[in-house]
Amino acid sequence: MNKIDQYYFDLIDKQRNVYQQAHLYQQNRADVSQYIDWLQCIETGEPLTLKNGVLTNISLTKSYKITDNIADFRDQSILDHDKKWSRLNEKFLNYHKSLTSYALMRNLPLTHYVSAVTNLAHVKGKTIVDVGAGTGQSQCSFFRYPEENTYFLVDPNVRLLHDQFIRVYPQLLETKMNHILSHAEKLPFKDHSVDIVMSLASIDHFADYKAFIKEAHRILKKDGQLLIFSHLDVPLGGRILTKLKTLKLSLPVLLEIVARKLFQLANRVSVDDHTLHFHNAKPMEEAMQESGFTIAKKESFMRYFYLLGKK
Ligand SMILES: C[S@@+](CC[C@H](N)C(=O)[O-])C[C@H]1O[C@@H](n2cnc3c(N)ncnc32)[C@H](O)[C@@H]1O
Repeated sequence: MNKIDQYYFDLIDKQRNVYQQAHLYQQNRADVSQYIDWLQCIETGEPLTLKNGVLTNISLTKSYKITDNIADFRDQSILDHDKKWSRLNEKFLNYHKSLTSYALMRNLPLTHYVSAVTNLAHVKGKTIVDVGAGTGQSQCSFFRYPEENTYFLVDPNVRLLHDQFIRVYPQLLETKMNHILSHAEKLPFKDHSVDIVMSLASIDHFADYKAFIKEAHRILKKDGQLLIFSHLDVPLGGRILTKLKTLKLSLPVLLEIVARKLFQLANRVSVDDHTLHFHNAKPMEEAMQESGFTIAKKESFMRYFYLLGKK
């Protein structure tokens, strides 16, 4: 049985409740040799060579491990010095394991809206660096032609694919992605080397969002695009009020809410694991302009925003 058959036979006809922990699957990862030309040493900026499963800079002062086709560029200084980031990151990883198909269904229209309205949904032939990409499911949920682009999943955590993504996006099994462990604040890419950098629902998890924006500007080609999308921090009271206004209460709805809350409690899903809380998009817009981007498109809607910058 080949790998794809195995994946599907694991899922077909199996009971799959909304509130249950996900089965996790490895990404379909490309070999690092396929994309080494995009990469550089995060300390010296030198090109890298690949030998015996290790990436090394030209002057042989720095090397990076590769495990299961994931190149590890994590900057230990961020982990050592930013205790707040490390604590919130641990909290976040509880949430990751308990991401439900409820969350997937709720988020799909949002992802589709942002990809359509920014005109990024239909890009072809682009090199895309998705920073804070998590599972990398955006390769196939955000982009309509994943096989036509070169996609980099960049994240400091190894986050495997939940079965719900495999069920919904068959292309995740069919299209390779380039998987890199790295922090947003120090990206292992050469200057002027990529077409699109994006951060979807991740900038408010970073330790230093301004450093990320500077890095995005450095690695983008001329006319390259930076997309930042996330939620805005609306106080809990306001959120509950909006929910109550739109909620049509019925027994199934109440049971749903109770099931969801019980699942979250049982799995210690935290309500807030963000390092940064943005009430509006202004600080990020200003940081983009300071780094040399022009704002091509922006919108704040409901409790979300996106900013599309051009280099
Ligand atoms: C809410 S998830 C969003 C994942 C994905 N973009 C999506 O929309 O499904 C936030 C992600 O940011 C990542 N993250 C946290 N700190 C980071 C940092 N300093 N640099 C890059 N990514 C980071 C987390 O590991 C996590 O995968």
